[in-house]
Amino acid sequence: MKKITKAVFPVGGMGTRFLPATKSIPKEMLPIIDKPLIQYAVEEAIEAGITTLIFITSASKQAISDHFDPKPLLRKKFVVEGKSHLLDKFDTLPKEITRVFIPQGEPLGLGHAVLQAKEIVGDEYFSVILADDFIKPQADVINATKQLIDASLQYDASVISVEEVPEDRISQYGIVDVNSAQADINCIKTIVEKPSIEEAPSNLGVIGRYVLSPEVFELLENTQSDKGGEIQLTDALAQLLNKPDSLYAATLNGKRYDCGHKLGYVQATIDSALNDPEISVDVSEFIKGL
Ligand code: UTP
Repeated sequence: MKKITKAVFPVGGMGTRFLPATKSIPKEMLPIIDKPLIQYAVEEAIEAGITTLIFITSASKQAISDHFDPKPLLRKKFVVEGKSHLLDKFDTLPKEITRVFIPQGEPLGLGHAVLQAKEIVGDEYFSVILADDFIKPQADVINATKQLIDASLQYDASVISVEEVPEDRISQYGIVDVNSAQADINCIKTIVEKPSIEEAPSNLGVIGRYVLSPEVFELLENTQSDKGGEIQLTDALAQLLNKPDSLYAATLNGKRYDCGHKLGYVQATIDSALNDPEISVDVSEFIKGL
């Protein structure tokens, strides 16, 4: 199999759970301390060997392309004014990385968003990263995207990240059933979108990291919208299962926070603050004193 070098970042959702903030700020631009969620996701991709970033955006998400714009004039101003130390934080992308922005048009679901990348991705395996699933960067842990890329190359198949989710949240996730839960990477038997607890085949929820075969595009083209009018990626992945050994689940190594909702976002912020050498001691004192 060819190297996997392209990552799709679907950022076309409306972020209604974060209104009113998301009326003008894309959810993916919300910061964990001083860095936007999308920047963490992009750094994870680049660390995993991705060289082409494909953002599926909506009209209200201009701030995301602004964030990755090199802004040469402002950059020069920093240098002239002796503020070169700011460039480390200002330069959000290495020069050799390619950025592509594709409008989704209408927010017709995650599957529809991924489908917009078909022409740019072509006939290659590709990664999909949902920036609102924040995975805490940890120097000693292989990042989730790299873990999936390695597994995909090993099994010559699509691989998606899963983790155990609490019972009361099962109905908010795609849920998989695997052949054996013994290993870190297992062949998937079934996958269902947002089942009730009674219907759920397990408590293994799909989280926002995928490495997918280009076959998924054709499956998405033939996937019907759900009752809410959205094309679900999970429904296309369920079709992949018609071919044996074509979809695997990898248990996530790292610590993940669902920053698409308030509690996960606050937890991610607290955890990151307690690990930030600049502020951790003060934050810890502050929390103790509450
Ligand atoms: P969510 O289910 O979190 O939807 O999408 P959302 O619109 O972002 O947020 P809420 O539920 O209204 O609060 C999961 C991921 O899929 C992307 C989102 O941007 C997010 O990264 N997405 C979703 C799209 O790119 N397009 C869509 O039409 C829907």
